[in-house]
Amino acid sequence: MNFKTDTNCSYIEKQIKSLEKLTDEDRPFTRLVFSKKFYEARSWLSEQFNVLGLSISTDEAGNLIGLLKSNNETNKVVIVGSHIDTVPSGGRYDGTAGVVSGLCLIKHIKENNIELPFNLAIYDFLGEELNEWGTSCIGSRGIAGVLNEEILLRQNSSGKILKDEINKIGGNSKLLNKPLPVVKNILACLELHIEQGKVLEERKIDIGVVKSIPSISRFKVTVSGQAGHSGTILMNQRADALVSASKIITFVNKSALKISKNSNQHFVSTIGKIDVLPNSAAIIPGLVEMTIDLRATSQKSRQEFINTLEEEISSLNNTDTCQINIEDIAFAPFVEMDKELINLFKSSSDSLGFSSNIMDSGAGHDTAQLSRVAPAAMIFIPCKDGLSHCPEEFAEVSDIAKGTAVLYKMIENLAELNVN
Ligand code: GLV
Ligand code: MN
Ligand code: MN
Repeated sequence: MNFKTDTNCSYIEKQIKSLEKLTDEDRPFTRLVFSKKFYEARSWLSEQFNVLGLSISTDEAGNLIGLLKSNNETNKVVIVGSHIDTVPSGGRYDGTAGVVSGLCLIKHIKENNIELPFNLAIYDFLGEELNEWGTSCIGSRGIAGVLNEEILLRQNSSGKILKDEINKIGGNSKLLNKPLPVVKNILACLELHIEQGKVLEERKIDIGVVKSIPSISRFKVTVSGQAGHSGTILMNQRADALVSASKIITFVNKSALKISKNSNQHFVSTIGKIDVLPNSAAIIPGLVEMTIDLRATSQKSRQEFINTLEEEISSLNNTDTCQINIEDIAFAPFVEMDKELINLFKSSSDSLGFSSNIMDSGAGHDTAQLSRVAPAAMIFIPCKDGLSHCPEEFAEVSDIAKGTAVLYKMIENLAELNVN
């Protein structure tokens, strides 16, 4: 049964438009995990699951699940999922495109009375984006059993403990110390996502079949100086934390640029979060806290970067007026997608006449966590100018529909491989 991309475009468009309205009004598009708008979006998604006749549940890790049960007596399940939370002032397609394509996939299967030999579950993975608790991929880490006690007990700026938030949304934080039981039954975890880069658009390629997801490391850098009067302390008497921080910012950028030039693998590093204290025009900055985000496909390059950064910090600590401290706060390892699923995605796309490219991801995804415990793979669709994590983020509905057609072909192929 062919998936008609044109007739499904209007459904996809309608769902994307419904979700984009659920944003903090003063900073579109913002739907942070556990916020009021996030809860509203979860209710909206439950309603869509309901309309499609799916069984609705929330698992121990707080993932919202719409389940299409097979007529066969089976526990085997194929998971199709992504996320509906956003970064602050983010876009309308990151995560949402994948969840909406899952809905569209189920609509097609239902409308055409297609029987599957396995259960098919659409997941909204809880809190994929980096949040105030300093972690990302809450729900998929929970499935993989890697949300440890230290992470679960973290508090956000208003004192809310992560595990309490997970429990409030319907999870059970006591059962997150090992992979969830569902992992034994997963045949495949599939995700459609916008590329968030420019490769597909520039090369006019329909589908990116992802072969790996880079390691993601985050480090907290604290620069301690001395606050003081900006009018009276002379320039040679200062310990200005922001000036010292700027040396680290420049170093990180230059060093990442050099490493990425010398290697043909994905390597990027960013300082995108910085807090200056007390942050007042008439006071010399006394303290700076900032986060380094580092993505690397090659572990050798990652180590080279860390070594040179540590050397730079130790040399600055010997010569500078401020003290710099670096702390490792998060790490997700480099992962490769399941080889059989990569091939199946590629042949599914080929059989529909779409052009495709096997490529590395630059961003992190729930699929990276899931691949630790189950066969997992994902596809990318193009997005305009490669922009993402910003309000300008845009993807053509027709491209989401093409990706959904590939997902459907995958389901057909998996069904053939898994007939009892
Ligand atoms: C996910 O959005 C990431 O930061 O890679
Ligand atoms: Mn995403
Ligand atoms: Mn994102």
